[in-house]
Amino acid sequence: MKKNSHATVASAHDKDLSRNVESAPSSYFDAVYRRSANPWRYGSDYESEKLRILLDTLPDQRYAEALEIGCGPGVTSAALAQRCNILTATDCSEVALDLARTHCRALHGLTFIRMRVPKDLPRQARYDLVVFSEVGYYLNAVDLAATVDGLAMVSVDRGTVALVHWLNESGDHRTSGQEVYNAFTTHPAFTPITGQTAERHGNRYRVDVLRRIPRLALTGTLQRGVRIRGIIHGKASGGDRRRLRNGP
Ligand SMILES: C[S@@+](CC[C@H](N)C(=O)[O-])C[C@H]1O[C@@H](n2cnc3c(N)ncnc32)[C@H](O)[C@@H]1O
Repeated sequence: MKKNSHATVASAHDKDLSRNVESAPSSYFDAVYRRSANPWRYGSDYESEKLRILLDTLPDQRYAEALEIGCGPGVTSAALAQRCNILTATDCSEVALDLARTHCRALHGLTFIRMRVPKDLPRQARYDLVVFSEVGYYLNAVDLAATVDGLAMVSVDRGTVALVHWLNESGDHRTSGQEVYNAFTTHPAFTPITGQTAERHGNRYRVDVLRRIPRLALTGTLQRGVRIRGIIHGKASGGDRRRLRNGP
């Protein structure tokens, strides 16, 4: 995420982090938020523009039930709440959640709960919108793959998954923003709908919208003998992908 704030955060914690081995622990983020209630500099040009692009790019005006992963102090959550009947905003850091509850105390239809991905993800499909903004690069490759699988599980058929990724490097990232994006777009349950890249004061980032391919369509693909990855996931060809995107 933001170049300057990240450099500070990383240098203060490098010795606590086993880069490319363990995903960043929740205690790391608790410490970050104890040191500053606004470590990512919400209100900056970068953060404001990023949020505006995310909101503009969501394909529907309203969502029935949304899930936000890694909500931080609740700035994105407050904006999303205006578009959702029910929003469950989650983070692995209790300190972040306390800040978020305070920030959003006047809003309705919004619940904050502690959830660490991938281990705490629910298993039932119920969300027509999942927002995954600037979280994935704190996960190692195994946890990232399990998280993408888990988000495929909780998304309803044709549900929307919105991704935001900073594309610069940071000392506390386990994977790059581009690698996180690739983990979603190469997953058989997701197909990209829109995507754009932007740059603000040297911060390069991308905002993408994916659609959850209907489960029945995937099953049909499997029955026709397409190579299988996992239990329900078919790796579809280009033609299959087009058919899956448009429905059976
Ligand atoms: C860089 S902040 C992004 C906050 C917000 N989503 C945004 O885009 O501005 C990353 C957030 O992800 C949370 N986080 C990191 N790893 C997580 C995990 N494994 N599960 C849930 N939340 C996590 C951190 O606590 C932190 O609040």
